[in-house]
Amino acid sequence: MSARDKLATPLDVGALRRDFPILSLKIKDKPLIFLDNAASSQMPQAVIDRWVKYRSAQHANIHRAVHYLSETATAEYEKARLKVQAFINAKESRECIFTSGTTDGINLVAQGYGRKFFKAGDEIILTTLEHHSNIVPWQMVADERGAKIRVVPINDRGELLVEDYRKLFNANTKFVAMTHVSNALGTITPVREMIAIAHEHGVPVLVDGAQAAPHLKVDVQDLDCDFYAFSGHKLCGPTGIGVLYGKAALLEKMQPFKGGGDMILSVTFEKTTYAPIPAKFEAGTPPIGEAITLGAAIDYLTAIGIDRVVAHETDLLDYATDQLNRMPGVRLIGTAEKKAAVLSFALDGVHPHDVGSLLNDDGVAIRTGHHCAQPVMQRFKVPATSRASFAFYNTMDEVDALVASIGRVQKLFA
Ligand code: ALA
Repeated sequence: MSARDKLATPLDVGALRRDFPILSLKIKDKPLIFLDNAASSQMPQAVIDRWVKYRSAQHANIHRAVHYLSETATAEYEKARLKVQAFINAKESRECIFTSGTTDGINLVAQGYGRKFFKAGDEIILTTLEHHSNIVPWQMVADERGAKIRVVPINDRGELLVEDYRKLFNANTKFVAMTHVSNALGTITPVREMIAIAHEHGVPVLVDGAQAAPHLKVDVQDLDCDFYAFSGHKLCGPTGIGVLYGKAALLEKMQPFKGGGDMILSVTFEKTTYAPIPAKFEAGTPPIGEAITLGAAIDYLTAIGIDRVVAHETDLLDYATDQLNRMPGVRLIGTAEKKAAVLSFALDGVHPHDVGSLLNDDGVAIRTGHHCAQPVMQRFKVPATSRASFAFYNTMDEVDALVASIGRVQKLFA
């Protein structure tokens, strides 16, 4: 029985797709087949409507005035924080800080925690799977403080070597930053186990959840992570908004990353005292409408049910993996046992950028390149890959179209 025959998805994908106006676009007279969801996912009408409602009837600055619009915007912004709290099961809403995205959240911790607590000789553990946004901020603070970066290796399937990770710990280890799902390979990392190992050594862990939050049930209390960062725009929400979760006790002892309005208790030229969390980390006018709209995206996903999302995306990934494995001349890059929604591949004799533009001629949108994960490319000795990445609104027919389009590219280059 093929993976497709076994499909008994409880999601009514056809009905869901009608919620997404952009999915009915035609590209070069062909139906759009959007398989670049790891870069950014699309927005359903209910979420677009929430944005329009905010802009047309609720916009004002927050936390500053007593007039109707300011109070409404403030209440809606704080309501969105409660939705985030429930979505990731944070203990308290003040542990959820609105950021501009995953990158911003990681930089906040690198600067707010690392600059305050790292010193010469300290070690920070990262993994080979990291996106540049979970490498460069740590290199910047390590350079400034004289700390060193240690890296967890991966095997040929793209899985982290947990025993090697265990051996990296020593008295100098001060921090671990790791991804939950690799954006380049789709590997789901054993993050819970790796956090427990770090905690045996008293070391805090930041998890980059950019690729996990849209595709897995995230429970920060169950993971026991110290920090968890994710973005709104990969979650059917807008760009310019993200979340940094942090355990309250850690956030409280960190220094603010940015100074400005709304993050203070009092200011004199002699001394400033900071507001309690989360305000301490939300200097200036935040992305108010974006946060509220992210709240609507969370409502939308929650109504679908993340378990049903996971089930459907697993079926899509299994089916697509099976199909590509049957094609001579196609090599999958990243074959971990546990994967989420990402299929990276190389075509013999064809540069990924040619693959990307020829697939575009068929209306198929994928990402090609190094995926901001050059160490992963170096590990697999490829300059780039072609990457199809799925969302719950993708269909088996779209996988068939991807496969047919790859076949066409192969014929052209034969
Ligand atoms: N980090 C995003 C990706 O993997 C942009 O495509």
